[in-house]
Order: sequence, then structure tokens, then C-alpha cells
Amino acid sequence: MACVWKIILLSIFIVSGRSNVLKGYFWHISDLHWDPSYDIGSNLASKCASSGGRPTPNAGRFGDYSCDSPWTLINSTMSAMREILPDPDFIIWTGDDTPHVPDEQLGVEPVLRIISNLTHIIKSTFPNTKVYSAMGNHDYHPKNQMPPEKSNIYEQTANLWHDWLHAASKETFKIGGYYTEKLLNQTGFRVVVLNTNLYYDQNKLTENIKDPADQLSWADKVLQDAAKNNEKVYIIGHVPPGFFEKKRDKAWFRKEFNKRYIDLIQKHSAVIQGQFFGHHHTDSFRMFYSSKGSPISAMFLTPGVTPWTTLPGVIDGGNNPGIRIFEYDTKTLLIKDILTYYLNLTYANKVYERWEKEYRLTEAFRVPDASPASMHRVMERITSDKCYLQKYFEFNSVNYDLTECHADCRVDHVCAMREVDFEAYEKCVVKEGGSSTAPVLFTLLLSLMLSLLCLS
Ligand SMILES: *[C@@H]1O[C@H](CO)[C@@H](O)[C@H](O)[C@H]1NC(C)=O
Ligand SMILES: *[C@@H]1O[C@H](CO)[C@@H](O)[C@H](O)[C@H]1NC(C)=O
Ligand SMILES: *[C@@H]1O[C@H](CO)[C@@H](O)[C@H](O)[C@H]1NC(C)=O
Ligand SMILES: *[C@@H]1O[C@H](CO)[C@@H](O)[C@H](O)[C@H]1NC(C)=O
Ligand SMILES: [Zn+2]
Ligand SMILES: [Zn+2]
Repeated sequence: MACVWKIILLSIFIVSGRSNVLKGYFWHISDLHWDPSYDIGSNLASKCASSGGRPTPNAGRFGDYSCDSPWTLINSTMSAMREILPDPDFIIWTGDDTPHVPDEQLGVEPVLRIISNLTHIIKSTFPNTKVYSAMGNHDYHPKNQMPPEKSNIYEQTANLWHDWLHAASKETFKIGGYYTEKLLNQTGFRVVVLNTNLYYDQNKLTENIKDPADQLSWADKVLQDAAKNNEKVYIIGHVPPGFFEKKRDKAWFRKEFNKRYIDLIQKHSAVIQGQFFGHHHTDSFRMFYSSKGSPISAMFLTPGVTPWTTLPGVIDGGNNPGIRIFEYDTKTLLIKDILTYYLNLTYANKVYERWEKEYRLTEAFRVPDASPASMHRVMERITSDKCYLQKYFEFNSVNYDLTECHADCRVDHVCAMREVDFEAYEKCVVKEGGSSTAPVLFTLLLSLMLSLLCLS
């Protein structure tokens, strides 16, 4: 039985891949959050430490929406990746390896051991594949407290990732958790892996520092050189700038860092061909515009592998485990398409571990590719068309929350996608929220018409 889906997925893959010889493929995975305490055999009401005491009556072999990932889910994720695309050009891995538990239940040694176990399983699944790996805010002890200078954990992590890092990368990694390399050693292509945990407002160590670990000035120089050398660049990181789309006004970066990050992207957008981040555990994206308002860059937020129900204040914020493949033009690094695969956790626990294709960007949103202009069009479709909004909303939690995305939900998602800047976001919330003052009858009629259209 387990073979059926594999064959279906593989044939979809082969058919879609043959048309363009310049196409390359890479995986992006994020937020694995392994919880070593997960134990369905225990007699406790909570089968895992990461549930924070919430009872988990349905905890199954592959996990629970109140818990972080059991090892079986991590292992299943790796097997699915190997079945679906065993030979990617490279892998992007954007961190958050440890469970959501109080610091007292972890420590430097447990955190490093968890990073080591995950590094090991990725390496043994893809022994010949280059991995570009960023640290998450949970990959430190105490969590979030990444220092703006040399540290033991940076050094140990650089050692664990030795096979994936050039010598020069290892040096910058040790002093700030960031690095840059030519993409797969090719002239004209580059990756920049950032440690944006330095900008996280929960990080007390960087509060009064203008440019923690000199990362911003370093990135500015790297991108300037890239332009000089006619390079195209992918930017990789964990904590994204802008707002969380599931909670009104919830930003991660400190205000001044958020501004400087946007400035960096605006200044260098000509060389940047994509930004790949995680941390939200949800599937979304962020638009960057020039000062004149044209779309210049898109940041892709890849869903998490952990199904863990997120943040207090978010109602039922779980997700199904998701992983994704990017198809890109190997001559320009333009993102041609995005394929997201997922595990229906409820089904996996009940029946078997069936990883299935969730959607292909160009099909679901009818755009030619994932360029900034196309992603802008996707954003506009979601903003103005209820059917696209609902489709996007279901993808956002990887088919976990299938309830209707109402007016407030629409504002939260649309403004988070469109406006990374703090002030622009606030304005967007006022503007988009204001539409509810439209004549009631007209709104009712319109939504009735739209829901009829969605059904057809
Ligand atoms: C990991 O996955 C492999 C291949 O699917 C399977 O044979 C093995 O039993 C799994 N191991 C665990 C610990 O789940
Ligand atoms: C994690 O790594 C340790 C060694 O560092 C090993 O003893 C342990 O079995 C690993 N756990 C898993 C689940 O692979
Ligand atoms: C890429 O370049 C680095 C540093 O110059 C070298 O150590 C590494 O072996 C090269 N990798 C490949 C696949 O050629
Ligand atoms: C996931 O699986 C459950 C159990 O089989 C099913 O009820 C649910 O509809 C599935 N969800 C999706 C999005 O297919
Ligand atoms: Zn996370
Ligand atoms: Zn995170």
C-alpha cells in the first residue's frame, strides 16, 4: 500500500520536470523541532514535554498537534524526501531543531545533541548533497539568546556542519552564525546565510547594538561585491522580518533592525533572486517593494515539519508537517515553481504515513513562475478574490485549519504578506479593515455571489 503514493508522486514529478533543461531542484525544510521526550507508551495524560501539560489523548506514532515532532516523524520526513526527490541540487535547512520546552529542561549539551542528531539523519539521507543551514532561535541555550560575538555553541555547530561549510564560512560562522559561499562553487551564483536571531526582540544580548556581529555591514558588502561580480544570490535565514500572519501586530524583529533589513533588500534587490525563511511553521510569503512601489523581491516562508500548536493568542494554530521543493532556472536562479508536500497527521496516525503533494504554486494561483511580479499577482488574487484567499488560508496551515477565513483573518494575512515595514503594516490594517464599513447589503450580496462562484 505504501508504494501507491510514491509512484503517483514520482510520476507527477517526472512529467513536470522534463520540459525545461535549465531547471534545477532543491529542498527547503524548516522547524523540525524534535521532542526526544515524545512517548506514546507513557501513562501520563501528556505524552510529550512540548505540550506544556496539555492532554494529548490522540497522540499517535507520527505525532500530535499539541507536541513537537517524535523521531518517527523526523525519520518519515527524511524517507519521504528521499522517495520524492532523492538527488536535489542542494538543500536549504532553516533551523529550529529543539522542542518548545522551558530552558530548564534543556541545556547547552542537550541542544547540541539534538542539532547533532538532526544533522546526522539529514547527512545520512543525503550523503552527497550540499546543505545550506541556518540556525533557528531554538538552536541555542538559553533559547533566543544568540550572542553578537564568538561563542561555544556557534563553534560546536560549525564543527557539526563541517562537511557543509567552506573554511571561510566556518570562520564567520564562529563569530556570528552567518556565512556566504558561491552556490555549489559556481561562478555567478551565491548564497548568503544570515543569523537573523540577532534581530529577534526576545534576544536580550543585542538590544542596544546597532549592528550585532557586524552582520548587516558584512551582508551589505557581500551583496555589493555580488553585483560587481555579476552574481545572483539566494538569502537564507530563520526568523523573518515583518509580521506573523496569524496574530495581529505580532512582529519578531526589533523596529530598527526591521527597517535596516528592508533597506538592505531594497538596495540590493537586483542581485537577490529569493529569500528563504522559516520560524512561522506556516506557509506564507512576504513581498518587498521598491520606493516607487514595484515588486522587487519575495521571501518564501516554508511550513514546519513540527505540527506543534503555535503561540498563545493564536486559536488552534497547529499545522500538518510540510516540506517543499523549489524549481529554479539554473542560469538565472529565478524561482520557477514551488511544490509543497505534506503528511496528514491524523491520517498517518490512523492508517499509514502517506506523504502527498499539497499543491504546485503555478497551478494553484495561475501564475507563470514565482518571480517577484508573479508573487505580487498571487498576493493581489488573495486580496481581492475570496476563493484564492480561502485556498491560500488552507495552505497556510498545511490543510490543518479548514475553517473559513473571515474579514479579520483576511486583513491579518493580506497585510502581513504585503507590508513588511511596521508603519506600512499599521496603515494596511486600517485601510483593509476599513472595508467592513461598506454598505451591509452590498457586502452580503457580494459574498453570496462569491461563495456561489467558489462552489462552481
Ligand atoms: C525510518 O525509516 C525507515 C525507512 O522508511 C524505516 O525502515 C525505519 O524503520 C524507520 N525507523 C524508525 C526509527 O522509525
Ligand atoms: C542521537 O545521537 C546520540 C549520539 O550523539 C545517539 O546515542 C542516539 O542514539 C541518537 N538518537 C537518535 C534518535 O538517533
Ligand atoms: C568547493 O570549493 C571548496 C573551497 O574552495 C572546496 O573545499 C570544495 O571541495 C569544493 N567543492 C566541490 C564540490 O567542488
Ligand atoms: C486528514 O485525514 C483525516 C482522517 O482520515 C480526514 O478526516 C481529513 O479530511 C484529512 N484532511 C485532509 C485535508 O485531507
Ligand atoms: Zn520553530
Ligand atoms: Zn523559530
